[in-house]
Amino acid sequence: MDFKVTPWEVEGEVDYDKLIKEFGTSPLTDTILNRIEKITGEIHPFLRRKIFFSHRDFDWILDMYEKGTPFAIYTGRGPSGHTHLGHMMPWIFCSYLQKTFDATMYFQITDDEKFMHRRDLSLEQTRIYAYDNALDFIAQGFDPEKTFVFTDIDYAKTLYSIAVKIAKNVTFSTVKAVFGFKNSTNIGMIFFPAIQAAPCFLPSELEKRKAPVVIPAAIDQDPYWRITRDVAEKLGYYKPAAIHNIFLPSLEGPSGKMSASLEESAIFSVDTPQDVKKKVMNAFTGGRETKEEQQNLGGNPDVCTVYQYYYFMFEPRDDALLERKEACTSGEILCGHCKKELAHRITAYLTEHQKKREKARDMLDQFLLKD
Ligand code: TYM
Repeated sequence: MDFKVTPWEVEGEVDYDKLIKEFGTSPLTDTILNRIEKITGEIHPFLRRKIFFSHRDFDWILDMYEKGTPFAIYTGRGPSGHTHLGHMMPWIFCSYLQKTFDATMYFQITDDEKFMHRRDLSLEQTRIYAYDNALDFIAQGFDPEKTFVFTDIDYAKTLYSIAVKIAKNVTFSTVKAVFGFKNSTNIGMIFFPAIQAAPCFLPSELEKRKAPVVIPAAIDQDPYWRITRDVAEKLGYYKPAAIHNIFLPSLEGPSGKMSASLEESAIFSVDTPQDVKKKVMNAFTGGRETKEEQQNLGGNPDVCTVYQYYYFMFEPRDDALLERKEACTSGEILCGHCKKELAHRITAYLTEHQKKREKARDMLDQFLLKD
């Protein structure tokens, strides 16, 4: 394969159809989307645009909901730095799911994982980022009565007692095959999949019922759910369901994903208007060499990261998106125009987000689970 997708690395131009086959997930079909629309009376742009494109048992989650069994939502973050826009996509979707289906929400922050995986990060640093990243999550508007946020280190006692039951049923050869672990991998990382699996069963423990759980996350996290699903029934739980999103690209080019390690081409939740402007003005576009060529031949939105940003988050109106695309391919507008407007929209979004993020500071304690 000419691309690679693991929980720690995404390289090359991802072929999402191939990934569905390789991972053994199911495409999110129009039948499922129509069902969601029928139940809720609306369809989120992330669904309509197939940004959420794949799933495991999401239809079963809807079955349970229709039968009156509420589901819980689980997602998370590995705190290795500031939150970027890509990280927030699954959280925006979780917030929509919580509001629409009145679901409980569990958010795991893997301060342990990032410390064990990254040689350059101390435990103190990942723990600082953990509580900083939590603000970006809470800022999405979750209900404090029904939302639970925890870091692995601070909630270790509860998580560990679930994780050991999982770990006992997963062999080294399985995690080697699923995650590509080697003999040189530290033993913390080898055990870690049991820690990321544990919150799949936490709603059952805390809500004192056998709870259906759905995990919205990018497709890179799916290997965890594969091993969790294999052990779930043996331990008396439902298999977790999952719904997967594609990657928001970096501003550097259309392949790969926005990644915190590519600082100049990722937009962070704490960026200033100046940062945003600089990054967007330097973005890779589908524009021509000269103004004249662009006006005569038109641009290519299919390879343009700026167009992708409108598509993913910054132009939810389908008719306006199409108009922009046509104005680009016909040479009517130039890249500078699109970039300026995008920088403006991202800045407006972040200004609002940063206000909510500050408010979240005062609310943090209402969300936290600690042992
Ligand atoms: P992390 O911190 O790498 O990523 C956090 C979430 O963001 C998604 N993601 C993206 N989505 C769209 N575009 C991108 N460019 C992009 N980059 C990352 C990830 O899929 C993830 O949903 N080990 C996990 C933390 C974790 C977790 C979970 C994630 C613990 N439990 C349950 C999801 C669900 C991690 O390091 O995520």
